[in-house]
Amino acid sequence: MINLNNKLQSQNPIFDHSLDHFPTNLTRRDVLTKYEKIPTFIYQESSDASIVVAREVANLILAKQTEGKNCVLGLATGSTQLGIFAELVRMHKEEELSFRNVITFNLDEYYPLSSHSIHSYHYYMRMNLFNHVDIPPKNIHIPDGTIMMDEVHDYCREYERLIEEAGGIDLLLLGIGRSGHIGFNEPGSGRNTRTRIITLDPLTRQEEAKQFRGFMNVPRSAITIGIATILSAKKIILSAFGETKAKVVKQMVEDEPNNLVPASYIQFHEDAKVIVDQGASLQLIRMKTPWLLDSMDWSEDRLIRKAVLWLCYKTSKPLLKLTGKDYNDNGLSDLLATVGSAYKINIKVFNDLQHTITGWPGGKPDVDDTFRPERANPKKKRVVIFSPHPDDDVISMGGTLLRLVEQGHEVHVCYQVSGNFAVSDEYVTRFLDFHQEYIAFYDAANPVAQIQQDKITNFIKNKKDNDIDIPDLRKVKSLIRRMEARSALRYFGLNNENIHFLDLPFYETGLKSKAPIAEADVRIIIDVLESIQPHQIFAAGDLSDPHGTHRVCLDAIFVALEYLRNQEWMKSCWVWLYRGAWAEWDADQIEMAVPISPIELSRKREAILRHQSQKEGAMFMGEDEREFWQRAEERNRSTAKMYDAVGMAEYEAMEAFVKYYP
Ligand code: F6R
Repeated sequence: MINLNNKLQSQNPIFDHSLDHFPTNLTRRDVLTKYEKIPTFIYQESSDASIVVAREVANLILAKQTEGKNCVLGLATGSTQLGIFAELVRMHKEEELSFRNVITFNLDEYYPLSSHSIHSYHYYMRMNLFNHVDIPPKNIHIPDGTIMMDEVHDYCREYERLIEEAGGIDLLLLGIGRSGHIGFNEPGSGRNTRTRIITLDPLTRQEEAKQFRGFMNVPRSAITIGIATILSAKKIILSAFGETKAKVVKQMVEDEPNNLVPASYIQFHEDAKVIVDQGASLQLIRMKTPWLLDSMDWSEDRLIRKAVLWLCYKTSKPLLKLTGKDYNDNGLSDLLATVGSAYKINIKVFNDLQHTITGWPGGKPDVDDTFRPERANPKKKRVVIFSPHPDDDVISMGGTLLRLVEQGHEVHVCYQVSGNFAVSDEYVTRFLDFHQEYIAFYDAANPVAQIQQDKITNFIKNKKDNDIDIPDLRKVKSLIRRMEARSALRYFGLNNENIHFLDLPFYETGLKSKAPIAEADVRIIIDVLESIQPHQIFAAGDLSDPHGTHRVCLDAIFVALEYLRNQEWMKSCWVWLYRGAWAEWDADQIEMAVPISPIELSRKREAILRHQSQKEGAMFMGEDEREFWQRAEERNRSTAKMYDAVGMAEYEAMEAFVKYYP
């Protein structure tokens, strides 16, 4: 039996469990959160945070039930709320939590959009909450995206009136967009706004492009309750998960309230709090530069490296030129006092960082490996590279992959999901077109192939907004991605036997939202690992969106490793995490940095370019207009620049890895 909960951690906020007393009347929490203008609680994992929020909702529902009153909830949609709703549904099913006394007001809805559309928030709410609990349908309110334009104004006033009539919102659950929006109050929304129709910010439309299968399909407007409506709720809990939210969370919590980050207005609310996971907390001062807030325990080498690299950046000096005055002038005098001298700290961090650099990611044979990131033995290693989609391998660690192959290791690449959702219909049509010509040219039409071809062509031609791709079309899209992945790896000298397409079932919903990981997904990973018994595993270690494919793929690996931990081969298996396509590890976290020469970098680019279906005009580029190869090169060059700037050797580019201890 596989324990799918292995990834679950504590439900205590990190940094909050030991509110140890500070010499004054302040608690350590008060000190660390000095710059935070809204009470903010950080949980290691979003799953823990979701449970905490759901409990708070449930407690309020129960308290109101005891008083014989209704409980009025304001609800957001989006990926952040999914875990919270799932926990509420679980409580309804397993703990008899009833929603009979619950009245809900959703924050927003796209305009124009029918409530039957699979993209509508009506559909989302039915699927993720309302269909699974006993809330009376008359108690549900969601803005109507089909109202006539000349009636919208009156409709919005009526929505406000209904909220008032219900006695106001007791508890409002919010998410936050990367644009800083709450509900759909985009940048520029004033503090006094009420329910109205708005124009969506381009960044928001980009974020939703995946859901709607392309930017152009995302509606341009929405109906949303206003900032004033939000602030009049009795209690607010805003949740934000994943590293992509880190910047806007910092702005909301630490900056002065301003209309460019409408979420910052909740600073004015007396009973608002923010719940984040570790990824979303990373830009807060207490996480990024805690030494500016409080004296630190400097026993951890990692913390020293973090502080010293920050000091290099702050003073624009390489490591070995930092002086005692630099430390003192920049709030690091306690570090100086603890270690003894700037010289000692500088050398320590210099050596520490130097030891992360290796051109031998599989270990250098026949040398002393005491200070090398990887072991020398065995000289030839079996290596498994897990790639969530069929291109993350070359995008994120193409240079390292190439070195591993060329240094003679037995490299296996395992693509976790098919990636078919990211192939456009237009791209498939090109292949169908080729196939049609091919059949006609040889006059050898295979009737079965022709029928299949017609079926797919007709489906694409008549496809409607709500249609989920038929399995045949999904299959063709998967095959396109397989073909591209093989082409890229062939170019790196890898044979087909070493390329494994796992097609994890959780991904195959045909929708942007995927199923949760299940035993079947983990079993596939266990089987492939048991058959290869690797010495090294590489995996994409994303801190991004918890419901995103990368994160689910990583969780599936963690669960599999936990299951396999007592196997003999696992005892000498090292696990390295590379970062997904979007970000790089922070300098203080890196444990292996693999230099890439200019020639290797151009080979990496070629391999990425073989993923043609993901090239320019691809469906999910995000708001970043650079192509994937450009992003990868800029990211690898900036890692090399960082090493150079602090006084290490100067390389063209570098790929970075962090070790994971199962
Ligand atoms: C939607 C809503 C939005 C979302 C925000 C975050 O009803 O209110 O403000 O909360 O866009 O969305 P996710 O959680 O998908 O990142």
